[in-house]
Amino acid sequence: MKLEKFVDPLPIPKVIKPHTKSKTKTYYEVTMKEFYQKLHRDLEPTRLFGYNESYPGPTFEVKKNEKVAVKWLNKLPRYHFLPIDHTIHHDGHEEHEVKTVVHLHGGNTPADSDGYPEAWYTKNFKETGPFFEREVYEYPNHQDACALWYHDHAMAITRLNVYAGLVGLYFIRDKEEQSLNIPKGEYEIPLLIQDKSLNEDGSLFYPRQPENASRDLPNPSIVPGFCGDTILVNGKVWPYAEIEPRKYRFRVLNASNSRIFELYFDSDHAMYQIGTDGGLLQRPARVQSITIAPAERFDIIVDFSDAEGQTITLKNRIGCGGEEADPETDADIMQFRVTKPLKQKDTSKIPSILRKRPFIKKQKIDAIRKLTLGASQDQYGRPVLLLNNTRWSDPVTETPRRNSTEIWSIVNAGGAIHPIHLHLIQFFILDHRPFDTERFQQNGELIFTGPAVAPAANERGMKDTVKVPPGSVTRILATFSPYSGRYVWHCHILEHEDYDMMRPLEVTDFHTQ
Ligand code: C2O
Ligand code: CU
Ligand code: CU
Repeated sequence: MKLEKFVDPLPIPKVIKPHTKSKTKTYYEVTMKEFYQKLHRDLEPTRLFGYNESYPGPTFEVKKNEKVAVKWLNKLPRYHFLPIDHTIHHDGHEEHEVKTVVHLHGGNTPADSDGYPEAWYTKNFKETGPFFEREVYEYPNHQDACALWYHDHAMAITRLNVYAGLVGLYFIRDKEEQSLNIPKGEYEIPLLIQDKSLNEDGSLFYPRQPENASRDLPNPSIVPGFCGDTILVNGKVWPYAEIEPRKYRFRVLNASNSRIFELYFDSDHAMYQIGTDGGLLQRPARVQSITIAPAERFDIIVDFSDAEGQTITLKNRIGCGGEEADPETDADIMQFRVTKPLKQKDTSKIPSILRKRPFIKKQKIDAIRKLTLGASQDQYGRPVLLLNNTRWSDPVTETPRRNSTEIWSIVNAGGAIHPIHLHLIQFFILDHRPFDTERFQQNGELIFTGPAVAPAANERGMKDTVKVPPGSVTRILATFSPYSGRYVWHCHILEHEDYDMMRPLEVTDFHTQ
């Protein structure tokens, strides 16, 4: 359906108020519900799933080390309005189709509050998954100021729940960030970007089967990836924002299922990136565009002081299959109109130093792991994407010791980029190195074809999701602390994660035998 672009103002998700707050704990309650919301001026309200009846959900604003507890209540209906494939993960739960579990993405969270995919529960905690731990999740927020996000993580239906609207932002603030004279308050704007496809009646479209599916395929069947033809920011289709001629800070999140964006301004305004997934960079990196994969967050400052009266479009350069984006659809994200008068002189800065502490403290490496990204097929001939040639249900193999530091060499011999995400921690990207993929596929031999390349300046910060380009070995340095227990690591393309590009990650304590 063809929708007029730039007709709705950009909404800013509301900040959630605590249910109770004491010196030792801030307690929230959030209810997941089915509800209807208008996504575009010319559309009827769309049926969605959301946190506190809003899409995106309310934004959390918490302080570093503030003890936060959230009761995530499931009041979602019994049946999903999107097509569930019951052949994956032998889920056998046709009776209670809507399972949910909430994960705080990027959070340094104890395992029993992390939202393990099999810790799902149905409406009112009536039925619970094999790993169900608790009804109230606790977030210690022992980490630097950053933009986290919360989203659904239920086994094998994450792609549907996130697409249905179960996403929200979670900001941690600290003194270091507050001491910087950067744009604040109304001049700090979150941009939660998702792609969707909408039917004429305003309802969400999600494919029941892959295109040109054979008759023998299950119906519904999972698809190998999904991109929508419509771009939403903070829950509105191609919105616009009226702004002042001054600096703004944008907290950009790609919450799409599969789509990678390369974002830039058609006015050629530079972006000064000041932070990555896990917080501030040491110094800003000036870039003309940012390539943002699902789940990544980019913290950028843009100076519009020379743009009074202009209309500027935030654009996307790459389409879903890596081709050039389509001017009719995914080449546009949103519009900025520099039409508001300057309220007062802009005294904010783009500081040359953002963070003085180094990212890497410990040099001792306790283990080096080689992990491959690969694929096989299921009995219907569908692709099953794999980590290390193992399925979700295979025994745990990634078992770092608590407080140990490891290098993970992630080998991508396939043809597509995969954004790989580890729970519990923020890691550091060491390098990307090209190798001979044919040789590797023949006999598993790893032969490099060029030198290791350090990450770009704007990726030299703490990350929880790393783009692993095809034909590269991407190395990350990770310290697994301070909690032990059962977590996961996975590709954040949600159609990959659900089938079967996700593995348990067990952080172990020392055993005495
Ligand atoms: Cu965004 Cu496993 O998470
Ligand atoms: Cu996560
Ligand atoms: Cu993937």
